[in-house]
Amino acid sequence: MNTENRTSRRTMLVKLGLAFNGIVGACVAVPILRYLLSPVTRERKVGYESWLSLGGLEQFPAGQTRLATYRNPVVNAWDGETDDIACWVRNVDDHTFQVFAVNCAHLGCPVRWFPQSNLFLCPCHGGVYYQDGSRASGPPERGLFQYHYKLEKGQLFIKAGEMPTPGRAAYGQRGGSKCA
Ligand code: FES
Repeated sequence: MNTENRTSRRTMLVKLGLAFNGIVGACVAVPILRYLLSPVTRERKVGYESWLSLGGLEQFPAGQTRLATYRNPVVNAWDGETDDIACWVRNVDDHTFQVFAVNCAHLGCPVRWFPQSNLFLCPCHGGVYYQDGSRASGPPERGLFQYHYKLEKGQLFIKAGEMPTPGRAAYGQRGGSKCA
C-alpha cells in the first residue's frame, strides 16, 4: 500500500470519527438544551391555573369551615378519582373566605377540621393549625397553604390546576383576593 492511499484512508477515518463524535454530541446536547430552555418553551396544559367553581356560596355558611372538592383541570384520561382534590373552605364573614389545601404543610397528610376545638389536626405527626390556617403546634414550619379565590355570580371560585406550594407562599399565607 503506497503512502498516498494510507493518507487518504487516515483522512477518511478522521472524518468518520469527527462525524460520529458530532452525532453523539448532538444526542447529548439536545436533551440538555431542552431541559435548560424548558421554563421558557414548556407548553402549559389546558386548564393550568384556571378558575374553578367550588359551588354556590350557600354551601359555605358564614363562620363555618366546610370540606369541598374540585376536579383537577389538568387531567389524564387514566387518572380516575385521584383527580378529585379536596380543600377546606372557611367563610369568615360572607365576604372574606379562606380556601386551604387539604395537605399538611409538613409532609402532606390530609388534615381534618375539628369544629369543637376550632383546629385543623394532622393525623400523621400531630401537626395542629388554627382556624385561619396558621400553625399552632407540631412539626409543620408554617401554616396551611391557601388558594387564590374570587366570588362571582354567587359562586366561590379558586385558582386551581397548580397546587399551592412553599414557592407560592407569598400570597398563600395571606389569602386570596376577596373578589374579582
Ligand atoms: S404530615 Fe402533618 S404533621 Fe407531619
